[in-house]
Amino acid sequence: MRKRMIAGNWKMNKTFSEAVELASGLAKELADGTGDVDVVVAPPAVDLKGVAEVIEQEQAAFALSAQNVYWEESGAYTGETAPNMLEAIGATHCIIGHSERRDYFHETDEEINKKAKALMAHGIVPISCCGESLEIREAGKHVEFVVDQIKKDTEGLEITDPSKYVIAYEPIWAIGTGKTATADDAQEVCGAIRAALVEIFGQEIADGIRVLYGGSAKPDNIAGFLEKEDVDGALVGGASLKADSFADMVRSAMA
Ligand code: PGA
Repeated sequence: MRKRMIAGNWKMNKTFSEAVELASGLAKELADGTGDVDVVVAPPAVDLKGVAEVIEQEQAAFALSAQNVYWEESGAYTGETAPNMLEAIGATHCIIGHSERRDYFHETDEEINKKAKALMAHGIVPISCCGESLEIREAGKHVEFVVDQIKKDTEGLEITDPSKYVIAYEPIWAIGTGKTATADDAQEVCGAIRAALVEIFGQEIADGIRVLYGGSAKPDNIAGFLEKEDVDGALVGGASLKADSFADMVRSAMA
C-alpha cells in the first residue's frame, strides 16, 4: 500500500526567521504525530538549515525538502546547489521540474531527468513535477502531454524502492490561481501516469510510486482528491504557508 504524502512548497516565501517560526508552529500542530502520512516541507534554500534544526530540536513529524538542485557534484556552477550539500544539511527530499522552473528558468525534461538521477545517487527522494498548460488542456491533449513528460523525466532511472520516487501532477492553470482541477480531472491524469509507470517500470514498482495532486489544494478541497484511486497526496503551495491550514490538510489525509 502506498503511504499518503502531503508536501508543502513554500516557494520564494519566508525569510530565515519566518521559516523557523513556521516550522516551529507546524511542529507544534503536528506534535501528536502524522499517523500513516508522510509530511514534507520545502523551504527556500537559505532557510533549509534553520528548518533542519527545528526538525531536530523539536523531533518534528515532517521531513525536509529542497525546491531545486543541480546535478553536478561540485565545481564552477555559480548559484547552484549540489545533492551532497542538501544531504549534508539533512534534506531528504527535493522538488524538481516545478512548472515555475520550467517556465521562468527554462528547465527541460532532460535536465529534470539528470537532477532525479543525481538526487537518487545520494538517497534523496525526488518529488518530480509534471503538468499541462491551459492551452494544452483546452486542446484535449493533456493526458498525452503529461505521459510524454513522465517518459522523459524517468528515462533510465533505476527504481528499486518505489517509495523513494514521487511524482506531483500539477496542472499549470490551477497553480496559485484558485482554480482547482476537479477530483475527476486529477484522477484522469494521475491514472494515466500510473499506467505509464506500469509500462516503464512494471506493475510492482508502479504500484508503489506516490502520485500527488497539486494546484490550489486547500483544507476544504483536499478530501475529494484523496478519495481518488491514483491520487496519493498533495503538493501544496499557498495553503502550506500557514501552520494551521497545512496541518488541517495533513489531518484530512490521516482520516
Ligand atoms: P498552489 O501551488 O497550491 O499555491 O496552487 C502548488 C504548487 O505550485 O506546488
